[in-house]
Amino acid sequence: PTHHMQSKGVCVCVCVLTCCVQAVTFEVTENNSTCIKAELSASFLITYNTSTSTRTAQVPLPDSARVDTDRSTCGTNDSSPRLLVTFGPGHGLGLSFATNTSLYSVTNLTVQFNLSDSATFPEANSSGENVIFSMSVRAMFPSFFFCTKDRRSGISHSPAPAPAPSGTPESGFYSVKLKNNTVCLLAQMGLQFNISYLSKSHNEVVRDVVNLDPSLTNSSGSCDANRATLVLTQDQRTILNFTFSLNSTTRKYHLSGLALSANWSDMTTFFTASDFSLDYLRSTLGLSYMCNAEQTLVVDANFSLNTFKLQIQPFQVTTEQFATAEECQMDQDQMLIPIIVGAALAGLVLIVLIAYLIGRKRSQAGYQTI
Ligand SMILES: *[C@@H]1O[C@H](CO)[C@@H](O)[C@H](O)[C@H]1NC(C)=O
Ligand SMILES: *[C@@H]1O[C@H](CO)[C@@H](O)[C@H](O)[C@H]1NC(C)=O
Ligand SMILES: *[C@@H]1O[C@H](CO)[C@@H](O)[C@H](O)[C@H]1NC(C)=O
Ligand SMILES: *[C@@H]1O[C@H](CO)[C@@H](O)[C@H](O)[C@H]1NC(C)=O
Ligand SMILES: *[C@@H]1O[C@H](CO)[C@@H](O)[C@H](O)[C@H]1NC(C)=O
Ligand SMILES: *[C@@H]1O[C@H](CO)[C@@H](O)[C@H](O)[C@H]1NC(C)=O
Ligand SMILES: *[C@@H]1O[C@H](CO)[C@@H](O)[C@H](O)[C@H]1NC(C)=O
Ligand SMILES: *[C@@H]1O[C@H](CO)[C@@H](O)[C@H](O)[C@H]1NC(C)=O
Ligand SMILES: *[C@@H]1O[C@H](CO)[C@@H](O)[C@H](O)[C@H]1NC(C)=O
Ligand SMILES: *[C@@H]1O[C@H](CO)[C@@H](O)[C@H](O)[C@H]1NC(C)=O
Ligand SMILES: *[C@@H]1O[C@H](CO)[C@@H](O)[C@H](O)[C@H]1NC(C)=O
Ligand SMILES: *[C@@H]1O[C@H](CO)[C@@H](O)[C@H](O)[C@H]1NC(C)=O
Repeated sequence: PTHHMQSKGVCVCVCVLTCCVQAVTFEVTENNSTCIKAELSASFLITYNTSTSTRTAQVPLPDSARVDTDRSTCGTNDSSPRLLVTFGPGHGLGLSFATNTSLYSVTNLTVQFNLSDSATFPEANSSGENVIFSMSVRAMFPSFFFCTKDRRSGISHSPAPAPAPSGTPESGFYSVKLKNNTVCLLAQMGLQFNISYLSKSHNEVVRDVVNLDPSLTNSSGSCDANRATLVLTQDQRTILNFTFSLNSTTRKYHLSGLALSANWSDMTTFFTASDFSLDYLRSTLGLSYMCNAEQTLVVDANFSLNTFKLQIQPFQVTTEQFATAEECQMDQDQMLIPIIVGAALAGLVLIVLIAYLIGRKRSQAGYQTI
């Protein structure tokens, strides 16, 4: 009917705020690998026409919002990564992302509302017509969330997980406490030893790949101003020490030492390997270091440590939770785009006001580009 095709005035205010409403987390994955992780708070103010007047509805992005997996994508050479979130009866929010080597940005914002949803838009003069519009935006994410390009130094990325008999190790959560029981170091990771030793049973040097079992592992250690140590002990037969060093001038920390002592039943002699001049897992004071991808930390010719889904914070632990993560280069290479809207982003308030008229027939009410 023709009256459905009348002009309507729509005013939309999109405000992506840090604290006005609670954040909802969305993840886009492809082949089991996360490429977009977004923590968003949003509230939409929509002014719409009723048959006699205009009204304004405030619509927060609800907890029930879900990623539309069919229309979200990690991107290809020709298309950019895109997150599409749907909520309620036919409402949606779409964000497209762009990246160059140093910055991530949102380049396109699409909002869609179903004005027939009378619970949200009472008395809307619409009858089934959707309001859809999109626009170019430029919202940059502060570069300190992303580590510098030198992150690759010293860390080699193992190729596709070799079919190790032991499989991917289980992730364990470890912490170190001060004498007064305050947590001072947090770590979550899966660990795999790649170790060569003289075997009793084979009477020759064997190379063994063995997972650390978190359920049999105890953690201890110490925390000083510029040095933190995490000691993982399994069965008294395996002792693994991590030493982290902080440069208080540059406010950067890194894994400077790794030491393993092992006395496994098939070993002819007590095994030790250590290096205290390493430069792995570099991050910034106040942040945690995170690397979901597998990393190989080479200690010497006989011992290297493979880490999986690692997150660690050896300094400035203020609560029993990790601070904002600085991501390793390999994860970034896999296009993980964290949009962390939290305290650190408190300065970012993106308010977009759009007022426009849809003076078009329903059949043409497609995407409006502003
Ligand atoms: C409501 O619709 C009328 C046309 O029916 C239009 O002239 C008016 O601008 C609209 N209201 C607003 C606030 O845009
Ligand atoms: C994703 O992981 C699941 C469970 O680990 C596995 O069954 C599935 O084959 C994986 N899919 C791809 C594409 O790797
Ligand atoms: C996912 O796996 C498919 C089939 O193996 C491949 O064509 C596609 O490029 C992969 N996507 C990503 C993002 O790796
Ligand atoms: C929309 O508003 C016009 C008056 O502006 C009215 O004639 C029409 O019936 C209304 N349509 C609906 C579906 O309420
Ligand atoms: C994507 O781009 C890379 C580098 O430019 C190229 O090696 C690859 O073949 C391209 N893939 C497709 C599917 O075009
Ligand atoms: C719009 O909302 C109405 C009323 O809730 C619903 O019947 C209709 O299916 C919705 N449209 C879409 C595209 O979801
Ligand atoms: C990345 O993009 C931003 C904004 O367009 C620009 O200022 C910056 O120089 C770019 N960086 C690189 C390495 O191209
Ligand atoms: C934004 O994305 C939508 C959906 O992919 C597309 O239709 C629209 O043309 C894009 N707008 C701009 C300004 O790039
Ligand atoms: C525990 O001791 C550390 C310094 O040794 C201090 O900073 C912290 O406030 C203490 N925590 C509690 C709960 O007393
Ligand atoms: C173990 O180390 C050896 C020698 O560096 C290497 O060839 C092999 O790929 C490693 N295996 C695993 C599962 O990391
Ligand atoms: C801290 O870093 C600076 C700059 O890289 C360096 O000159 C200084 O020696 C470092 N301090 C320590 C204690 O390592
Ligand atoms: C590991 O750390 C503990 C406690 O700091 C220390 O006693 C032990 O000697 C260290 N082991 C190695 C191999 O460095």
